[in-house]
Amino acid sequence: MINAVKGTRDLLPPDTRVWNRVEETAREVFRLYGFEEIRTPILEPLELFVRSVGEASDIVHKEMYAFTDRGDREVCLRPENTAGVARAYIEHGLARAGGVKKLYYIGPQFRYERPQKGRYREFRQIGAEVLGAADPASDAEVLVMLFDFLRRLGFTGLTVSLNSVGTEECRPRYVEALRDYLAPHIAVLGPDDQRRLEQNPLRVLDSKDPAVKSLVSSAPQMLEFLDPPSAAHHEEMLRLLDAAGIPYKIEPRLVRGLDYYTRTVFEVTAAGLGAQDALLGGGRYDRLISDLGGPKTAGIGFAIGEDRLVDVVSDSFRAAALEGVPVAVIPLSPDDRGYAFALASGLRERGISCDVQTAAKGPGAGLKAAEKRGSRLAVLAGEEERTGRSAVVKDLIKRTQEKVSAESLASYIREREKSQ
Ligand code: HAM
Repeated sequence: MINAVKGTRDLLPPDTRVWNRVEETAREVFRLYGFEEIRTPILEPLELFVRSVGEASDIVHKEMYAFTDRGDREVCLRPENTAGVARAYIEHGLARAGGVKKLYYIGPQFRYERPQKGRYREFRQIGAEVLGAADPASDAEVLVMLFDFLRRLGFTGLTVSLNSVGTEECRPRYVEALRDYLAPHIAVLGPDDQRRLEQNPLRVLDSKDPAVKSLVSSAPQMLEFLDPPSAAHHEEMLRLLDAAGIPYKIEPRLVRGLDYYTRTVFEVTAAGLGAQDALLGGGRYDRLISDLGGPKTAGIGFAIGEDRLVDVVSDSFRAAALEGVPVAVIPLSPDDRGYAFALASGLRERGISCDVQTAAKGPGAGLKAAEKRGSRLAVLAGEEERTGRSAVVKDLIKRTQEKVSAESLASYIREREKSQ
């Protein structure tokens, strides 16, 4: 027997209905905010992530699916999508068109992490990026869109955790203060945190080690080290979020696991997810495009972990997504199959989804199979119906049935579906 690779999984029906509904909602909401879809390759040059997400990040340091291809190229399965979007933006000269580019993506990402509930080696993200917009109004707009989307999925009571990690201008002063603070306590840090302290001390703030967590709880805060433009950016964003009624809390120790952030960073966690409770993360990256060799371009965006989102989406959203199991069209004898096919075509032309039950042995078994599948209505087609151009519609829940003409079948079914 051959099983799926560890940390990957098959998404099966009826769950895929929920996935599809989530994605349709994302596309609809993003369109309303003027975003367009971008699809970048799953396979990217390894160098892209080394130079953006950062060599010292856990992602690049120990979670990459990287290999040398047959042409001796160092490639990898993308661990995230922001770097790919930035690469495409530069490669296709999207900056030359001028103005702001608003892009979104939905697709698989790969990280070699230890699999557990909510953490997979292949997972999917729904993300959005705004390129060419340095104003704090973009930070606010991205969060407004995000909360609009989450609200349509039935989420209530979510709060975004916000922080600013400053810029290249003001961060070094903070990093120095943090180093000074941590230096006398080096013995408390495990080997991973010691490496972080060495390579990128901000990461120590993100440590999962309880002793280190308590140590950093009294560490200096980045917000106190912001230079005036970064502080003003932060304040203006908060003002706009207040005006829009977006629930947030300032989380002075929030740092993200990727190196490209400047100024705004944010995360949303959701109860019910267990240990892996980060539903989404994002932030501003005003140097990423220029660091990758493009023109100086500001950027901000987020990515939602779709696997986690689907896990905790509201019951009512899930129930609505699971509705609409196809109508079963059941020929009563082999001679009635042709007529059953004709009835089914008529229904499909009018947008009604249906299955012709030809596999079942006899109409009784056909009805049983339809019930098992969750169909609410069955259309029975026998000799009498065939000759009279009609059909018997059976309600499998109410246990009632009615004869209707073939002509009015679709409208009758529509009415029945609405009334349920
Ligand atoms: P990230 O925080 O690394 O950010 O990932 C975003 C989300 O992807 C996480 O909050 C989580 O829900 C989900 N995720 C990450 N790893 C896994 C995993 N192994 N299994 C399941 N879900 C996972 C980014 O990727 C940035 N590119 C976000 C961004 C966009 N920043 C700016 N623009």
